[in-house]
Amino acid sequence: QERDSDKKLLEGRKVVITAGPTREMVDPVRFFTNRSTGKMGYALAEAAVSLGADVVLISGPSVLPIPAGVEFVSVTTAEEMYHRVHDVFPSADIVVKSAAVADYRPKEIFEDKLKKKDVNLVIEFERTKDILMSLGERKTHQYLIGFAAETTNVEEYAKAKLEKKRADMIVANNVKETGSGFGTDTNKVSIVTSGGDVRELPLLSKVEVAKEIYKEAVRHMKKGSS
Ligand code: CTP
Ligand code: CA
Repeated sequence: QERDSDKKLLEGRKVVITAGPTREMVDPVRFFTNRSTGKMGYALAEAAVSLGADVVLISGPSVLPIPAGVEFVSVTTAEEMYHRVHDVFPSADIVVKSAAVADYRPKEIFEDKLKKKDVNLVIEFERTKDILMSLGERKTHQYLIGFAAETTNVEEYAKAKLEKKRADMIVANNVKETGSGFGTDTNKVSIVTSGGDVRELPLLSKVEVAKEIYKEAVRHMKKGSS
């Protein structure tokens, strides 16, 4: 149950959230993607609505129901997500990049279905744009939150991502740990903020994790503006 003050935590703020995987086509019937289901991102959207924000949810392919009260933007590829995020970035106050964006896409999308042959298949991949890093380069007043899905050296890699991408916060989780990561309703994360402070949260539901993220963000935004 929310306290009245919590309901107003994000009042008057525009929160942009990216969620889910991206999908990179190979040919008309095949694509590359990853294990993201969108649960963390949709929980972030639901929580932001309940805290009074204006919410834009930009999502890759997901079967989850669209949370009530959000402006929903559906995307497929990393390139499309990049453009839709930049469309709304100037008017955003908080951006949460919880999407599992493909790092690579096939260099060429074949117009017709690839037919099998008797030899091994080699597909060449090229890098996609790093959306979070591009936002870090352009930010003015926006508070930027990234995620780091790791299987080893979680804190160390999260701190490196915070600096490299000029984010204000990185939410780090070990996707190998039980109760964390893909398709679960719970998550166990560490919140890394600028200056290198690390706050470890216990295992919580994804909506509870989302609320903790916003509370921490608002605390930092206040500090920055005073
Ligand atoms: N991200 C992004 N655009 C990409 C790749 C990642 O905006 N093309 C964002 C993710 O949404 C996440 C953060 O960057 O908020 C970290 O993503 P992650 O995959 O953990 O890190 P990478 O920088 O891609 O490095 P690596 O996958 O090698 O660990
Ligand atoms: Ca990546």
